[in-house]
Amino acid sequence: MHVQSLYTLLVLAVLLLPTNAYAAEREKVLLDTDMVEFFDDGVAMVMLANSPKVELLGITTLSGNSWVEEGTAYTIRQLELLGRTDIPVSMGLAYPFRPQRHELFEVERMTQGMGHDAWLGSFGLKQPVSWQAFYRARYAKEPTFAPVKQHAVDFIIDTVRANPGQVSIAAIGPCGNLAMAVRKAPDIIPLIKRVIYMGGAFFQPGNVTPAAEFNWWFDPEAAKIAVRTPFKEQIVFGLDVCEKVVFRKEHFDRLLRILGAGPMSAMLHGTFVGQMFAKDPAFTHYVWDVLVAAAIIDPTLITREVRQRVDINDQTGLSYGQSLAYPKFAPKGCQEMRIVLDVDIERFWNMVADPTYWSGSDTK
Ligand code: RIB
Ligand code: CA
Repeated sequence: MHVQSLYTLLVLAVLLLPTNAYAAEREKVLLDTDMVEFFDDGVAMVMLANSPKVELLGITTLSGNSWVEEGTAYTIRQLELLGRTDIPVSMGLAYPFRPQRHELFEVERMTQGMGHDAWLGSFGLKQPVSWQAFYRARYAKEPTFAPVKQHAVDFIIDTVRANPGQVSIAAIGPCGNLAMAVRKAPDIIPLIKRVIYMGGAFFQPGNVTPAAEFNWWFDPEAAKIAVRTPFKEQIVFGLDVCEKVVFRKEHFDRLLRILGAGPMSAMLHGTFVGQMFAKDPAFTHYVWDVLVAAAIIDPTLITREVRQRVDINDQTGLSYGQSLAYPKFAPKGCQEMRIVLDVDIERFWNMVADPTYWSGSDTK
């Protein structure tokens, strides 16, 4: 080969190598969420979308915190604000597996009571007509892009099949989409790299009832299918760790400083926590799902965990939706999970306040 051509080839190889090597290292993530605006699910999405260490393959939505139509509208709007309309959004389940749970919820509440954080999510909200109707009513404009036509369950299946052994699923809402996907296409189970949940309360009381944590209580039948699936690896951030990370006004103010003026900061002010901090600077809350996103970006944030087999109580009654961890003698079919107990809290807040995650492009 001519010396000049060889030289050109070498230069090209040097220029291309670092980019390819870096791309290969990026963690492929599918985010399955009951989205809200710039609070826990929203902040988790922002961090995963903007992290240079992550390739966010898509966002699947379902009812939980919000109705799926509402959560999808929030997802679309937040991606517009971030300038990341290239990330596919796919709508999933509107209802939990138990028939008529939404309709019968008032009876359940009267007979079973609620916990210290009695957030009802979509059980307490009117179902929007469509995601577009919700979007227009909330933002007084037309969306600039739309979810893909494919249902979230099929989106998960196809994405996993297209990236065998590479996809981490971040399940930060109820587990309906994931449970349906593994039921419909069990061939994807060994192809999933890991599932990282926000869900459950293992060694302490629940939040939505004294026994149960919101995500897994919202759809206990689905959660049971998901956690009993023999995935290669399951990691769970339950209330045990999430309630150790207290969200205070100083953290909120740090975010506002990064955002400056503009629609993202207005959205943050308009959130439930924004309104609460405005009324009472001593108010505190939690940021559950953000821990999942942060630990995907930097797994060394996890400082303590135990490995135990996990199950969910799907018998209706006072302990419906309770998560159970067995150090030994677990019921047959339960899978081992890494139950996270501690994270490096200071490093976590520094990560959340890293301006890298908060760059956006849409100022309208
Ligand atoms: O219990 C906390 C969970 O419930 C979080 O995922 C939060 O977003 C709510 O859905
Ligand atoms: Ca959530």
